[in-house]
Formats: sequence, C-alpha cells, structure tokens
Amino acid sequence: MKILIDCDPGHDDMVAILLACASPELEVLGVTTVAGNQTGEKTWGNARRILTLIGRQDIPAARGADRPLLREPIVAPEIHGVSGLDGAELPAPGFPGLPGHAVDFLIRTILGSREPVTLVPTGPLTNVALALRQAPELAQRLQRIVLMGGAVRDSNVTPAAEFNIYVDPEAARIVFESGAPIVMVGLDVTNRARLSFADIDELASWNGKVSRVLAPLLRFFARANREVFGFDGAPLHDALAVAHLLRPEVIRTRAMNVVVETAGEYTRGRTVADVYGVSGRPANAEVAEEVDVPLFRELLFRAIRALDGAPA
Ligand code: RIB
Ligand code: CA
Repeated sequence: MKILIDCDPGHDDMVAILLACASPELEVLGVTTVAGNQTGEKTWGNARRILTLIGRQDIPAARGADRPLLREPIVAPEIHGVSGLDGAELPAPGFPGLPGHAVDFLIRTILGSREPVTLVPTGPLTNVALALRQAPELAQRLQRIVLMGGAVRDSNVTPAAEFNIYVDPEAARIVFESGAPIVMVGLDVTNRARLSFADIDELASWNGKVSRVLAPLLRFFARANREVFGFDGAPLHDALAVAHLLRPEVIRTRAMNVVVETAGEYTRGRTVADVYGVSGRPANAEVAEEVDVPLFRELLFRAIRALDGAPA
C-alpha cells in the first residue's frame, strides 16, 4: 500500500511515522508537514529529525502551509512543548528536504502514481484542502483519506472541537465536502489508544536506537496529557490512523454524514456527525467508533522493536 503522511510533529505524529516506516506492508511515498502542534518551521524540522533518527533520509519530505487558510495559527506547547517534540534530543535534520511546496508535491505524487495512494493527514488539513482546490481530481484518484481528526462526542482544544479541525475548520470543510473516500479516526477512539506509563517504562528498558529516544519523549507527552486531561498515559492519536492501514480491525467504523462547523461562536471546528442519520445528508465518511487497544499496543511494540533492530 502506497501512502503519504501529512503531519505536524508532534509526539503522536512521530509514532505514526515510525509505525509506517517500520511496516513493510506500507510504502511511504513522502512526508509533508503543516503548522499545527508547533510552527511550520518547527514541524518541518521535526519531521526530518524523525526520519534522520531512523535512517530514512531517502523518504521525500516537503514543507507545507505555515498558517491556516483563514484563521490565525495556533500551536500546542502545553502538550508538545516549545520544540514540538520536547522530552528528548533528536538528531539534527540530516537532509534538506525537497524544494517547493508540499501541496505541489502531494498533487504530483498522487497523480503520478499508477497505484492509488492513501493519504494520511495527522495535522490540520490546510495542505490537503489546498491540494484538493488546486487539483479537484485528487478526490477520485486517492484510494482513501485516512485522517486523524474530529470526534463524534469527544473534544480537546475546546469543549466542542478537536485540535486538527479547530486549527483550520475551513480546510476541514473542504476535505469533508470533496467527495474523497474518508476514514475519520477521531478522539472518541484515539483518546483511548494510550500507552501507559508502565508501557513507556518497558520501552525505556529496551534501550534500543529508537526506544531510548522515544521513551522519554512519550513520558513527556504522557505527563502533559495527564496534567491537561487527566489521562493515565499517552494517547497516540495519529499512530492509530496508520495502525488502521495495517490491521483495519484495530478500529470499528460506521458510515455517517460529517459536516464541519466553521461559524459557531462556541462550536468552531466541531465535526457534526449524523450518528442516527436524521439529517438526510448522504454519508461522506467512515467514522471510527471502537478501538482494539491491545492490538494497537502490539502493533506499536512490534514496530519499535523492528526499528531498534531487535528480533521480532
Ligand atoms: O487532537 C489531536 C491531534 O492534534 C493530533 O494529531 C495531535 O498531534 C495534534 O495534531
Ligand atoms: Ca498531529
């Protein structure tokens, strides 16, 4: 399966990238970045640091939007720190990345692929919306858009919204109205897809090339989520979207209509999911409702062991 990851690393974006790169079932055609958890400059550097850490400077990387379509940028230092990947030192980016904008890279990669590409956005949808506006045919050429974002009942950045959608609700609206086949992996499942502090201690005990860096990063992220949300571990939101590509049964989805609120005083960025089909609007997304956390954890541990160079 050919995939593209559009991300805003971010601790859980990092785990999504690690999981994808550790999985021979997936061919990562590229990693593009967008402003979100941190500024565009920081997420761009972080993505290349992650790829350098695992020796994957061969994967094309391109920098995308530094700000939402209309809104003022928002970052999340309370969760990801000032660097966007606080908690451990990562290597300096070992490669410059591609010249040119991520949107152009996404378009040419998707349209140039003989096999349909699966797009995995794990940050605000600014780049994806711009690509769909520039090349509307992408909606029919993409295999799927499997995105981490939104929620049916849950929330984080405001009582009504999830961060990726809230940062750029207009972009999210463009994506959900594009006609592309969408899987929405939202907070209702990703807030439950957590590694516990004991899991993180186990990773630290491996002391491998990747685990020795990842464990302190995840401990920082878990502590931040405990302080802000009272969670007892690290919710690896973005990695669950990738896990679904590997083992679809890691989540259970249901077809629903989803629209994005862009005007509400208190509800900006709300993904309004028509759970009971009362709107009469056609379903435009497969929405995740349940998660198999043990399976998710098994996939993560297998991937990190592989990246450590340890036997499976
Ligand atoms: O709400 C969680 C999402 O926002 C995750 O993708 C996290 O990395 C942040 O981007
Ligand atoms: Ca993210």
